[in-house]
Amino acid sequence: MSAWIMLSSWRGMLVFAFVFFVSISARAEATNLTSLANLFIGTASGANGGSGGNAFPGAAVPHAMAKVGIDVSTAPRQAGYISDNSSITGISLMHDEGTGGNTNGGYGIFPLFPLKNCTFESCPVGIGARAALRAAGADAATPGYFTTKFVNNIQIETTSTRRAGLIRFTFPDSEQNHIVVDLAHDLGRSFSGGSIAITSDGRVELSGSYGTDNYTAYACYDFTPPSSLSPQPIVKFGTFKSDSVSNTSSITVTPSDNSSISLSFPFTSSVSKIEAGGLLSFNASSITARFGVSFISSSQACANAEEEVPDWDFDGIREASRSSWETVLERVLVDVEKENTTVVELLYSSLYRASLVPANMTGENPYWTSESPFFDALFCSWDTFRTVHPLLSILSPVEWGGIVSSYVDGWRHTGYIPECRANTKNGYVQGGSDGMPILGDFAVKYGSRAQDLGVSTDSLYQALVDTAENTPPDWYRGDLCFLLFSVHADRNASTVGRQNTAWKTFGYIPTDWDDPSGSTGLATREASRAYEYALGDFAVRQAALALGKSSEDVALYANRSMNFVNMWDPNVTSDGFSGFAQRRFPNGTFALSPPDACSPVDPTPHSCARGDDNDTGFYESSSWEMSFFAPHSVATLIRLMGGTDTFINRVNHYFDKPYFQAGNEPSFNIPWIYHYANRPDLSVLRVRQVVFKSFNTGIGGIPGNDDSGAMASLLVFHLLGLYPVVASKQFLIGSPFVSSFTLVNDFLGTQTRFIVNGFDEATVTANPPNGSRLFVKSVVINGVQSDSLCVIDFDDVIGGGEIVLEVDGDAEAAQTRGCGSTGLPDSLETGGFAG
Ligand SMILES: *[C@@H]1O[C@H](CO)[C@@H](O)[C@H](O)[C@H]1NC(C)=O
Ligand SMILES: *[C@@H]1O[C@H](CO)[C@@H](O)[C@H](O)[C@H]1NC(C)=O
Ligand SMILES: *[C@@H]1O[C@H](CO)[C@@H](O)[C@H](O)[C@H]1NC(C)=O
Ligand SMILES: *[C@@H]1O[C@H](CO)[C@@H](O)[C@H](O)[C@H]1NC(C)=O
Ligand SMILES: *[C@@H]1O[C@H](CO)[C@@H](O)[C@H](O)[C@H]1NC(C)=O
Ligand SMILES: *[C@@H]1O[C@H](CO)[C@@H](O)[C@H](O)[C@H]1NC(C)=O
Ligand SMILES: *[C@@H]1O[C@H](CO)[C@@H](O)[C@H](O)[C@H]1NC(C)=O
Ligand SMILES: *[C@@H]1O[C@H](CO)[C@@H](O)[C@H](O)[C@H]1NC(C)=O
Ligand SMILES: *[C@@H]1O[C@H](CO)[C@@H](O)[C@H](O)[C@H]1NC(C)=O
Ligand SMILES: *[C@@H]1O[C@H](CO)[C@@H](O)[C@H](O)[C@H]1NC(C)=O
Ligand SMILES: *[C@@H]1O[C@H](CO)[C@@H](O)[C@H](O)[C@H]1NC(C)=O
Ligand SMILES: *[C@@H]1O[C@H](CO)[C@@H](O)[C@H](O)[C@H]1NC(C)=O
Repeated sequence: MSAWIMLSSWRGMLVFAFVFFVSISARAEATNLTSLANLFIGTASGANGGSGGNAFPGAAVPHAMAKVGIDVSTAPRQAGYISDNSSITGISLMHDEGTGGNTNGGYGIFPLFPLKNCTFESCPVGIGARAALRAAGADAATPGYFTTKFVNNIQIETTSTRRAGLIRFTFPDSEQNHIVVDLAHDLGRSFSGGSIAITSDGRVELSGSYGTDNYTAYACYDFTPPSSLSPQPIVKFGTFKSDSVSNTSSITVTPSDNSSISLSFPFTSSVSKIEAGGLLSFNASSITARFGVSFISSSQACANAEEEVPDWDFDGIREASRSSWETVLERVLVDVEKENTTVVELLYSSLYRASLVPANMTGENPYWTSESPFFDALFCSWDTFRTVHPLLSILSPVEWGGIVSSYVDGWRHTGYIPECRANTKNGYVQGGSDGMPILGDFAVKYGSRAQDLGVSTDSLYQALVDTAENTPPDWYRGDLCFLLFSVHADRNASTVGRQNTAWKTFGYIPTDWDDPSGSTGLATREASRAYEYALGDFAVRQAALALGKSSEDVALYANRSMNFVNMWDPNVTSDGFSGFAQRRFPNGTFALSPPDACSPVDPTPHSCARGDDNDTGFYESSSWEMSFFAPHSVATLIRLMGGTDTFINRVNHYFDKPYFQAGNEPSFNIPWIYHYANRPDLSVLRVRQVVFKSFNTGIGGIPGNDDSGAMASLLVFHLLGLYPVVASKQFLIGSPFVSSFTLVNDFLGTQTRFIVNGFDEATVTANPPNGSRLFVKSVVINGVQSDSLCVIDFDDVIGGGEIVLEVDGDAEAAQTRGCGSTGLPDSLETGGFAG
C-alpha cells in the first residue's frame, strides 16, 4: 500500500498535520536558493587533459529551448563557453548542456557581436577580425542571467524565456556603436545555406541550416524598443558578405538607403565558409536586442519574441526566470545555514543543471502536428535514463509527464521510442533503446495517475512493445527526414530502435553475423547492447505488471530480460577473477577480448565509442565495468561471479585498479552495488570517496561531460543518500551528506522530510574517520520501523511525512546487520520485483 494512500488513515492525518507544520517552516528558511547555484562548475576546458564538463553557464529557464551565452574562439567548446581567457566571437541563442562528441560544439546560432570606434563600411565584422578578449574576472552568472565585459569596456548582459529573450550591450559612450548579426557562423562552422532580412524599423529575420544533418533554425531580432523605454536610434544598417567563396576574409559591407535589405544563400550540400550577416549602427550607449527563436519559421520566431517578451522588461524577465528556478530548487530543502557549505553548493548547482534539459520545444516540431508536448535535446537517453529521469520522477512529475508524452509521441509518429534526438534530428543510438527504461520507470511510478500527467498508458505500453519486438532497417541511426516521407507508407521502415532480429534469434547479439532481414547498423558493441536490451525488456516487464497487462507479457519480457547471462563467458579470467561478459559468434563460441579493453587502464588503444573497431564489444566501457550491469538482477551477477565474498573483492578491485570510470555513465550504480551483497556499509564508504574524489565546486568539478545533467543528477542522489533502481520503485538507501532534507512533490502535494538522527559532520569527507557515524542503523518511515536498511519504496520517498534514519559509527555492527534480515534489494532471479 502506498504511503500517500496511508495518509488518509486517522493516524496518517496526525503525521501529516505534524509534517505539514515542519515543512512550512523548512520552506520559509529556504529562500534565494538560486544564489547558491554556481553555474561555472564544469566549465573548464577539456583541452590538454582538462576535465571538460562542457556545462552551459548562460541564461536559460528550466527546460528552455533558448539557452543564451557567449562563445569562445577555441575548441573544445561543446557548450560555447569555456572558463579561460580565450577571445569571444559572439553571444548566441542556443546551446547544448554538457554533451560530448562534437568538440566544436552544437548550436551557437545567430550570434551578435558589439563593435565600437569603426566607421560603418570598415568595421571588422568577420568572425576572426572581431573576436575580442573579455576583462579578467568579468564573467558572472546566476540562474536566468549572464553577463561579461570585454577588455574595451563593452558589457554584455542577457536573460531569457523559453523561446525568446533580451541581450543588452552597454558601451562607454554613444559614439559609433555597432552590432553585428552573424548569419554564417554556428559553433560547428557548419553553415550550408540561409538568409537574413533587415527592415528599417529595426527587425532582423534569419534562417540558417547547420550541422552534419542540416537542421534548419530561425531567429528574429528587434532593435526598436517600445517608446516607454529609452530610444536607441538606428543611424545606419546594412548587410555584409565575403566577396568570394575562395577568399572569405575579404568582406564588403553594404549599407541600406533605409529600405529593407536582405541576403540569401541557397542550400548547398557542402559547408560554406563564407562570412555573412547584418550590421546596425546606433546613436545610444545602451543597446538592447530582443530575440525569438523557432524551428518553424522566422515569423514564428518573431511571434515567440512578441508573446514571451512583450514589454522588453529586462529586470522583469530576469526575475521571472530566477523565480522559475527558485521553484525548481525548492523541491529539495535543506537548512543552508547549518549544513556543510560545499555540500549545499554542490547540491543546488547540480539541481540547477539537472533541469536545463531536455528542452521544451512544444510548438516547434518541424515534422508533425500533435497535441503532445515536444521535447528535444534528449541526448542521449543512454546518458539520462539512469539518474536524470529518476530525479524528475521524485521532484518534477509534471515536467516528466510532458517529457514522457514526447517520447511516446515520437513512437506514435515513427514507430519507435526516440533515443537521442537533438536539434530536431535523430542522433546515433549508443547501445540499447534507452528510452525503454524511462517509459518503464514512468509506468511503474505514475501509471495509475498517468492521465493527470497527460500520458496515455495504452500508447506508452504499445511504444514499449513495438520497440522491443520490431527491427528497423537501421537500428544505429535514424533520419527523421527520411521518416517523414516513409512512415505513413510503412511504419516499420523506420529508424532507431534495436536489433531485435538478433536478440530474438540468438538470445544474445552475435558478432560477425549477416542479418538476413537486411536490417543494418554499426555492427559493434554487441555485449553492451545485449546488457542494455535486457534492461529494456525488464522495463517492458515492469510496465506490463504495473499496467495490468497479461501474465504472458510479464513472463515473456521477464525471461528475455535475463538473456544478458548469454554474454557471460565463465572461462575468461582477469586479475584472478573469472567470468566476464564477452562477444559471441553466431555458433555460440565466445570471441575473446581483454576485459580491461576500454577501461581507464587499457594498455592498448581501442576505439571505444562509435568507432567501427569492433574487437571489444563494449560501448564507452570495459568488460570489467559492464559485467556489473544488470540492475534488475544483480543477484545473478553475484552468482556468476562466484558468490558474495568474491563479488565484494571484485568490486573493490574494480575501484582500486581503477577500472572505475567516474566520468561516464556505465559506472554510475557501481559504488552502490555492495548493497546487493548485503554490505551497505561498504557502499556508503565508497560513495563518500567517489563524491569527494570526483566532484568539487571548481570549474573542473565534474569528472566527465555533464551529459545533459546526468552527472548533476547522479551527484544529487549521492548527496541525498538515495540511488534509483530504474524501471522499478526501489531506491537504495545510503548515508546522506546532510543532517536533514525535505523532498517536495507539488503534483502529489507531498513533502517528505528525511532526518538523519546522529548525523556526524565528520563523515562529510572522502575518508570518514573510524568511528564517525556513517552507517545506517535503522529506518523509520512515518513511525513504522522498516524491514530494510538498504531499500526504500518510491511511494515512501515521495509519500509525505517523515523518514528517520539513525546512523552510528560501529563498522563491525554495520557489517553484521547488513540490510536487515529480509532487507536485500530486489533481483529478478531471486523472486524480486513481484509487484
Ligand atoms: C539573493 O542573494 C543574492 C546573493 O546574496 C543577492 O544578491 C540577491 O539580491 C538575493 N535575491 C533575492 C531575491 O533575495
Ligand atoms: C591565457 O591563459 C593561458 C593559460 O593560463 C596563458 O598561458 C596565456 O598567457 C593567457 N593569455 C592571455 C592573453 O592572457
Ligand atoms: C574608442 O576611441 C576612443 C578615442 O580614440 C578611445 O578613447 C576609446 O578607448 C575607444 N573605445 C573602444 C571601446 O575601443
Ligand atoms: C527610415 O525609415 C523609418 C521607417 O521605415 C523612418 O521612421 C525613419 O525616419 C527613416 N530614416 C531615415 C534616415 O530616412
Ligand atoms: C545536408 O544533407 C544532405 C542530405 O542529408 C547531405 O548529403 C549533405 O552532406 C548535408 N550538408 C551538409 C553541409 O552537412
Ligand atoms: C584575401 O583578401 C584579403 C583582403 O582583401 C587580402 O588581404 C588577402 O591577400 C586575400 N587572400 C588571398 C589568398 O587572396
Ligand atoms: C546622436 O544623438 C545626439 C543627441 O541626441 C545628437 O546630438 C547627435 O547628432 C546624434 N548623432 C548622430 C550620428 O545621429
Ligand atoms: C512546455 O511548454 C508548453 C508551452 O509553453 C507549456 O504549456 C508546458 O507546460 C511546458 N511543459 C513543461 C514540462 O515545462
Ligand atoms: C567487424 O565488423 C566488420 C564489418 O562490420 C566485419 O567485416 C568484421 O568481420 C568484424 N570483425 C569482428 C572481429 O567482429
Ligand atoms: C570453458 O572451459 C571448459 C573447460 O575447458 C569447457 O569445457 C567449456 O566448454 C568452456 N565454456 C565455454 C562457455 O566456453
Ligand atoms: C565459431 O565461429 C568462429 C568464427 O567464425 C570460429 O572461429 C570458431 O571456430 C567456431 N566455433 C566452432 C565450435 O565451430
Ligand atoms: C565541508 O566539507 C568539506 C569536505 O570534507 C570540507 O573540506 C569543508 O571544510 C567543510 N566545510 C565546512 C564549512 O565545514
